[in-house]
Amino acid sequence: MEIKNAAFVKSSTQESDCPEATIPEYAFIGRSNVGKSSLINMLTNRKKLAKTSSTPGKTQLINHFIINDSWYLVDLPGYGWARVSKKSKADWKRMIDNYLKTRENLVNVFVLIDLRHEPQKIDLDFIQWLGEEGIPFCIVFTKADKLGKTRIQSNQVNYKKTLEKNWEELPRMFISSSEQKVGKREILEFIDSVNQSIDQ
Ligand code: GTP
Ligand code: MG
Repeated sequence: MEIKNAAFVKSSTQESDCPEATIPEYAFIGRSNVGKSSLINMLTNRKKLAKTSSTPGKTQLINHFIINDSWYLVDLPGYGWARVSKKSKADWKRMIDNYLKTRENLVNVFVLIDLRHEPQKIDLDFIQWLGEEGIPFCIVFTKADKLGKTRIQSNQVNYKKTLEKNWEELPRMFISSSEQKVGKREILEFIDSVNQSIDQ
């Protein structure tokens, strides 16, 4: 699939403020600084469509981008940043839980995970929650450029083994690097196939 155009639509503080739910929507979520906004820019070929930063906590709202006038990409604020007050964490949880549970046109969530680290409880808990809520998701391992090929493979195997403790069927997984444009074709092809299955 070719991305012909990508445009920012709006930032929302809650699900009820989001754009009309008339077209399919794909959301990106994961720990602060894992590379959500960078991945959206890489997929859309636009350096500054979604705002990125080396400081965690850059994305604070639910940000909608419209792609090819026919589907949305959504950049969400990250979780798990240590320097956040209890109240901010609770506000994040309320906003995100409500968005993920009620957004009618949300067809898939991409959970981004930094493949350099051992599986983290916060990510595993979030994945577990998505499963319990019946929200469809894929996993995208990010920053692959920071690891050698062997480590990418062995860390991915390790991650799968961890998930297999709780899951009979594993979610679809992608390897990505926004720096090196890795994973772009695979992720866009996946989105295209889901869009086509919805069309029929
Ligand atoms: P929040 O909005 O704060 O939750 O972060 P985010 O997940 O949107 O991360 P963002 O895209 O802002 O990227 C965080 C940092 O990681 C930035 O310094 C990026 O340049 C860097 N980064 C993102 N993707 C990659 C990647 O594929 N490779 C490398 N080497 N760095 C990356
Ligand atoms: Mg961001």
